[in-house]
Amino acid sequence: MRLSIKQITWLKVVLHLVAFLPLVYLFLAASQGGLSADPAKDIQHFTGRMALKLLLATLLVSPLTRYAKQPLLIRTRRLLGVWTFVWACLHLLSYYLLELGVDNLRLLGSELISRPYLTLGIICWLILLALTVTSFQRMQRKLGKRWQTLHNCIYIVAILAPIHYIWSVKTVSPQPLIYAGIAALLLAWRYKKFIKWWPF
Ligand code: HEM
Repeated sequence: MRLSIKQITWLKVVLHLVAFLPLVYLFLAASQGGLSADPAKDIQHFTGRMALKLLLATLLVSPLTRYAKQPLLIRTRRLLGVWTFVWACLHLLSYYLLELGVDNLRLLGSELISRPYLTLGIICWLILLALTVTSFQRMQRKLGKRWQTLHNCIYIVAILAPIHYIWSVKTVSPQPLIYAGIAALLLAWRYKKFIKWWPF
């Protein structure tokens, strides 16, 4: 049975809630002392992991649409991509405001350049920014074929964001490797597409 437009609309509402409610949780936990002795770090970690989870969910939509034979499912992809960017912005803001301080914009610039794992983070953020501002149908029409080429850059984020995560952790733990493994699977799923691009 194919999902109807009405069911997809409800699914979109649920996905908006799934992406938004953790923000309410984080706000309540932070305001009621529910975080650890280093709340700034907790917020950075939480927002970073949320961005990554939503990125992986965005990448899951197209294979799921195809294999479940649910063409309308593809309509949930844009909202998940935009929420990925929202959480990446919160992550960047939490690092800038809570770790460095509002007066330290210059320091943020030098940190982003001098610390390679942060350079990867900001490259991901810039790509997500470009994808979000061009995610509207009007932009899709305006950019024509270039739109798909630009949006293929999501695969660069799918490679760099897990590396940023693995690089950021000071002690070896399984969690970043699990995220990287899922990202690798979602990319491997598209191997035929990548083979077509291979120039040799
Ligand atoms: C916008 C530029 C970015 C900056 C400045 C940034 C900064 C940081 C910092 C400072 C940490 C480590 C915190 C610590 O343990 O000391 C971190 C960890 C992390 N970042 Fe980013 N990041 C950026 C972009 C991203 C993006 C785009 C994603 C995902 C799509 C992401 C996902 C993560 C994850 C998952 C972690 C690890 C969280 C944990 O340890 O539980 N970051 N980031």
